[in-house]
Amino acid sequence: MRTLFTNIKELIQVRDASVQKVSGNEMGDLPTLKNAYLLIEDTRIKDFGSMDSLTSTEVDKTINCKGKMIFPTWCDSHTHLVYAGNREGEFADKIKGLSYEEIAQKGGGILNSAKKLQNTSEKELFIQSGKRIEEIIRLGTGAVEIKSGYGLTADAEIKMLRVIQKLKEKYPISIKATFLGAHAFPKAYQNNKNAYIDLIIDTMLPLVAKDELASFVDVFCEKNYFTVAQTQRILKAAKRYGLVPKIHVNQFNSIGGVSVGVKNQALSVDHLEVLTEEDLSVLHQSTTIPVALPACSFFLGIPYTPARRIIDDGLALALATDYNPGSTPSGNMNFVVASACIKMKMTPEEAINAATINGAYAMGVQKELGSITKGKKANFFLTKEIPSYGYLPYAFGSNLIEQVYLEGRKIKI
Ligand code: NIG
Ligand code: FE
Repeated sequence: MRTLFTNIKELIQVRDASVQKVSGNEMGDLPTLKNAYLLIEDTRIKDFGSMDSLTSTEVDKTINCKGKMIFPTWCDSHTHLVYAGNREGEFADKIKGLSYEEIAQKGGGILNSAKKLQNTSEKELFIQSGKRIEEIIRLGTGAVEIKSGYGLTADAEIKMLRVIQKLKEKYPISIKATFLGAHAFPKAYQNNKNAYIDLIIDTMLPLVAKDELASFVDVFCEKNYFTVAQTQRILKAAKRYGLVPKIHVNQFNSIGGVSVGVKNQALSVDHLEVLTEEDLSVLHQSTTIPVALPACSFFLGIPYTPARRIIDDGLALALATDYNPGSTPSGNMNFVVASACIKMKMTPEEAINAATINGAYAMGVQKELGSITKGKKANFFLTKEIPSYGYLPYAFGSNLIEQVYLEGRKIKI
């Protein structure tokens, strides 16, 4: 099946296959083609170019895109979208002035979600999570990383990872799974934290590996959560099973999470709302990509990751949602791109690069996704009629996506 998209006002993020990620100044450059065509064959991008260079070719279908643009779908490299219920009760506490830590100390937070998830059947969890997947696809996301971490028992962590596995089988979106058993200490282990680390290493990791339920391992490396030494133990053990680290660091405090991540060849270090000069210099000596989560900063009212400092220093940066019930109850990458521009002073070019090619790198799918490139998966969205690509983050509250294609197939929206 060959489909030809013609008269595309602007085809966004056209790259050749050699580009893995973009860093520093390169992030300010967004390659596009005006008045373009795009040819897809079955699930892949076959060809593209300017309309002037289009020669007659046999196709099954032609779609005229006059006035509309085509973007590669967003690559959301950090979510916790498999969860049970919501935490809107805590929302009211937050409005009254309680901090994230105070809410957690009151019995809210991650442990609250863990209790709900442990009492929810696998089938019900799949239904609730499937609705979130359908929603983010409509919002233009074509690749998503999903973490466990609301189970906190061997059974419940495996249940979450099995749900992620089933989502992969059912939906055409590309999904990568991350094991986050080290998200919080369950109540029963508050006075014996090492015993929980033992449970993760001796029981959970072998189960995850046995059924190949995850590609990545994550730890919430933060004061009152997991120390650097505990993080090191877990990452080292996970490495024996081939799990690559993608870790939560520097959300509230810089305690050495960036260093422990880099030391263990983390693919990404995520959050970084607090960032020191030392953290920056450690990142320079690595291939680890920093990931910013501006929707989390927006919702919690905490500082935004200093994107300008990171990019102006020559580093790469990716953007993701952090979709979860506690700190970011939204999986909307369009909002993430807009808030990166509005609040983090990223240019539209930088934000779009961070949410596509760099997002793909941050979840290890850059050879398949993240740009309009011959041979990559035909995952892209068609906009409504818009004056420029910068209009997308500018008109931050509008839904400007008209149609989404995943693996060459038109998604019903
Ligand atoms: O990335 N910080 C750790 N984990 C999530 C929040 C989890 C929760 O509050 O449920 C985050 O913000
Ligand atoms: Fe997170």
